[in-house]
Amino acid sequence: VFFEALESTNSQVLELARTGAPEGALVLAEQQSKGRGRMGRRWESPAGTSLLFSLLLRPPLRPFQAAQVTPCLALAVARAIRSLTDLPAEIKWPNDVLIHGKKVCGILLEMQGQADVLDFVVVGVGVNVLQEPEDFPPELRGLATSLFLESGRPLSRPTLLAEVLREAEDFYRRLLEEGFESLIQDWQKLSCMTGRQVRAKLAGHTLEGMAIGLDPDGALQVRLDNGVVERLVAGDVEFIRPVGA
Ligand code: BTN
Repeated sequence: VFFEALESTNSQVLELARTGAPEGALVLAEQQSKGRGRMGRRWESPAGTSLLFSLLLRPPLRPFQAAQVTPCLALAVARAIRSLTDLPAEIKWPNDVLIHGKKVCGILLEMQGQADVLDFVVVGVGVNVLQEPEDFPPELRGLATSLFLESGRPLSRPTLLAEVLREAEDFYRRLLEEGFESLIQDWQKLSCMTGRQVRAKLAGHTLEGMAIGLDPDGALQVRLDNGVVERLVAGDVEFIRPVGA
């Protein structure tokens, strides 16, 4: 379903899901007035610049596995960008896509379920496609980018959507048929995390160490200086030093 303007494609799909819409329902918008980001943040983008969509999925997974759906979309976006442009899109755990270290796509997963039953997940994807520098607020200019800014060429958003969905369908099928472990190798290939020093703020303390990979459930493994390997299941991580520093 296409909308010229909406509060949020995620909110729209949550509503559709609650009234029984089938798996695969997809809402697209040119503009959002209350676009949501992770951790209660806002997601802003000027009208007509981005690919903004939310997808309804009803995977036969347990609630604690719902987050495994997000990498399917992160992988799909990174691969679609790589196949339609020559840009080196990479994945930053848990679900950002970066180009040359700047964020070009964010993914927000929301779900509904009971303790043991997952009713549905809504995966919302925002890709910065056509933004020019002045389309980003000054505080984001060093951190965010668009496909146009990186490649110098406007990419067709319908073409990008079609390629993202084609890739996502493959990864989603693999997740359901072969389990999350079957995605790890592809994820590692496109990840910009492995071998990097990272810092994560957790409830009550900060953890620092080297990101070494994903575990079979999708948690980020971080090796602390004392050799202990911790698992991060959610949250934000920042890089402590740039590559090679
Ligand atoms: C993040 O990086 O914080 C996630 C951003 C997710 C933004 C997308 S845009 C389409 C969909 N609708 C929303 O309200 N949010 C997601």
